[in-house]
Amino acid sequence: MLLLDGKTASQSIKEQIKQKVIEITALGKRSPHLAAILVGNNGASETYVASKVKTCAEIGFESTLIRFEDSVNENVLIEKINTLNNDSGVDGILVQLPLPKQINEQKIIEAIHPSKDVDGFHPVSAGKLVQGMQTFIPATPYGILLMLQYFNIDTKGKHAVVVGRSNIVGRPMSILLSSNTKYGNCTVTICHSQTKNLKEICLQADILVAALGRPEFVKGDMVKEGAVIIDVGITRVEDASAKKGYRIKGDVAFDEVAAKASAITPVPGGVGLMTIAGLLKNTLQAYEARSGLTY
Ligand code: GUN
Repeated sequence: MLLLDGKTASQSIKEQIKQKVIEITALGKRSPHLAAILVGNNGASETYVASKVKTCAEIGFESTLIRFEDSVNENVLIEKINTLNNDSGVDGILVQLPLPKQINEQKIIEAIHPSKDVDGFHPVSAGKLVQGMQTFIPATPYGILLMLQYFNIDTKGKHAVVVGRSNIVGRPMSILLSSNTKYGNCTVTICHSQTKNLKEICLQADILVAALGRPEFVKGDMVKEGAVIIDVGITRVEDASAKKGYRIKGDVAFDEVAAKASAITPVPGGVGLMTIAGLLKNTLQAYEARSGLTY
């Protein structure tokens, strides 16, 4: 069984980006700049954003963290996004989701200019992805592709089953795996909460992507011998015996599934780290497009 270690894979990608930043700054140009907006103080969002900002510093990107109270008005957020859209020193903008109830998430996503949409959530980015055009691929599916590439996992002609149909992970992942590209060319089945015979479908998967957000939902008896398992779940489960009072659980019951899999991502230390790598690659892409830099 091959452990698809996100730490090694993301480290290698971060090193490559770091080298590019060194080349860029050696030309006397500024570094790529990511602006992150965090609303409220949801514990998981705080952790994710802190990790994104920290990684920017590690690889030489500039980053700005903009915080708002939970009670922030939608127009205030949109105004801030407009300012960042018009700031020629900012390459990428991300608004950490989820947002509080009074805010229409879709409106916020659409306020970000597509040229700075490093999360790839804007309908323009999503539309381009569907049509196989160059665009910003949402960071988690992008990270998974980078993981498949790093470990040289063959996807051509395989049956990929994606469990979850979110705009952030499941749907773009299903499109990418079915596209005519090196880490695509799969026959894809996308499953969701209304799917009948989910277990039978999962049992047919050569590649199983679990992105439904239910801890340890995928059990050993739901996977085929030799399958490749990509676990996208990151849920905090209360555990009084843990130092922080919770443990991070994936969507896959790791031990029993690993016993049957040919390759599997751990949680933590798997897809989560690759998501950040995907975001950084998108930010570099935004910078290059804006500055006309080519290599
Ligand atoms: N919330 C969960 N995943 C993501 C992500 O990839 N980007 C943003 N902005 N918010 C998220």
